[in-house]
Amino acid sequence: MEPEDFRHHAHMLVDWMADYMTRVEDMPVRAQVSPGEINETLRGEAPKTGEPFQQIMADFEQDILPGITHWQHPRFMAYFPANASPPSILAEMLTSTIGAQCMLWQTSPAATEMETRVLDWLRQMIGMPDGFTGVIQDSASSAILCAILTARERATGWRVNEDGLGADDRLAVYTSTETHSSTEKNVKIAGLGRQSLRKVPVDECYAMRVDELERLILEDKANGIVPACVVASIGATGVGAIDPLRAIGEICRRHGIFLHVDAAWAGSALVLEEHRWMIDGVELADSLVFNPHKWMMTNFDCSAHFVRDPEALVRTLSILPTYLQSREAGQVIDYRDWSVPLGRRFRALKLWFVLRSYGVEGIQAIIRRHIDLAEEMEGWFAADPNFELMAPRVLSLINFRYHPPGIDDAETLDRLNQTLIERINDDGRTYLTQNRVGGAFAIRVSIGQTSTERRHVEQVWSTIAEIAQGLEPDNSR
Ligand SMILES: Cc1ncc(COP(=O)(O)O)c(C=O)c1O
Repeated sequence: MEPEDFRHHAHMLVDWMADYMTRVEDMPVRAQVSPGEINETLRGEAPKTGEPFQQIMADFEQDILPGITHWQHPRFMAYFPANASPPSILAEMLTSTIGAQCMLWQTSPAATEMETRVLDWLRQMIGMPDGFTGVIQDSASSAILCAILTARERATGWRVNEDGLGADDRLAVYTSTETHSSTEKNVKIAGLGRQSLRKVPVDECYAMRVDELERLILEDKANGIVPACVVASIGATGVGAIDPLRAIGEICRRHGIFLHVDAAWAGSALVLEEHRWMIDGVELADSLVFNPHKWMMTNFDCSAHFVRDPEALVRTLSILPTYLQSREAGQVIDYRDWSVPLGRRFRALKLWFVLRSYGVEGIQAIIRRHIDLAEEMEGWFAADPNFELMAPRVLSLINFRYHPPGIDDAETLDRLNQTLIERINDDGRTYLTQNRVGGAFAIRVSIGQTSTERRHVEQVWSTIAEIAQGLEPDNSR
């Protein structure tokens, strides 16, 4: 494609993108296709010769778009959001046009220096103290892996990096029963084995019980096991549980344990001072991650990972073959050693565009709006005798179930709500996620799309109520 053709097609594409932002509202939120349906539209072999751009776009619109679940739909309320925004999309266009691979300072000095600067803006914006340095990871999972690897090395005097885990290296990682599954996955990836993960019981607010944490640590120590890492959650995935950071941090300090804080979703809400209590005690942590790609209008992928001791992280991950050496080493940051993959996209650019376009106040206003909308919706559930709130709302996350008067059998309620969520998601007007709260089937509503307004939340509420009313407990099997 010649640059002039590119110009022509790109203009068309930008028109498509702007139209999409408005017409997405008329599309089903979750793709309404069956397994294999999209595959059938795709040819068995790559085309031998190139095809016209218009044809490719026409096929995209006709065959592929029906198989897209629209995460930017204002009535997308499943999982946690992965919200985007026009400034972030524009920056992504620049990033892909430049196509820089930013593994070393030298391979794009602006990318490195902007990353350091923009992450420090973020650190200040969310009220993290001085003494933490930021790096962008592709995902919160990667940041948790970096934390567990660093903790493993710190606990073994950087020996496992050299010798591998031996039979005598008995380490333990602690997290609550509510913590996102990525911690368990990373314990396996780090070679520690699932048996070394301790799932600490939670209290009535689903927060980690510190008495249980300390009990497990002492028990491990008595058995010759080295407590290496605690992963605390600020906004765990199920009901948004918030672990007591200060108390956990004090225990970690006492026992010399690495403390990582997973604030993947809730971290964005720290831009609002009234929610900063959630990280009271963060100065006792060794690292924290939150995802601007979840709730800060920044396209996936962009995880902000703050570390207290970058040298420990670099020492854990560093490898220096000749071809990665540069004459600036020692004077600059080479982010290649701050994450698992060597190659790095210029992710700081979209954050820079977002932060400059909205300003801190613009971001605060959007996040506050989401939380206010969730509070209002929580009130609708609370006021309707057919519904039950299953856990206290945390920020913009609600857990509810349909519980019509007179039906109190646990299995019937579980079945009823399982049918309800399937019908809601098949209906297409919204998209929600199932959960278990205290063993009971629950449905999560997670508000956080950039364009979500009150009318969308009202539409979601009336969709849920309408579909629930149409359910018969008997046909809910
Ligand atoms: C609390 C929490 N931590 C970690 C993750 C993993 O995030 P990522 O997809 O960025 O790896 C998630 C994903 O939703 C999450 O909710």
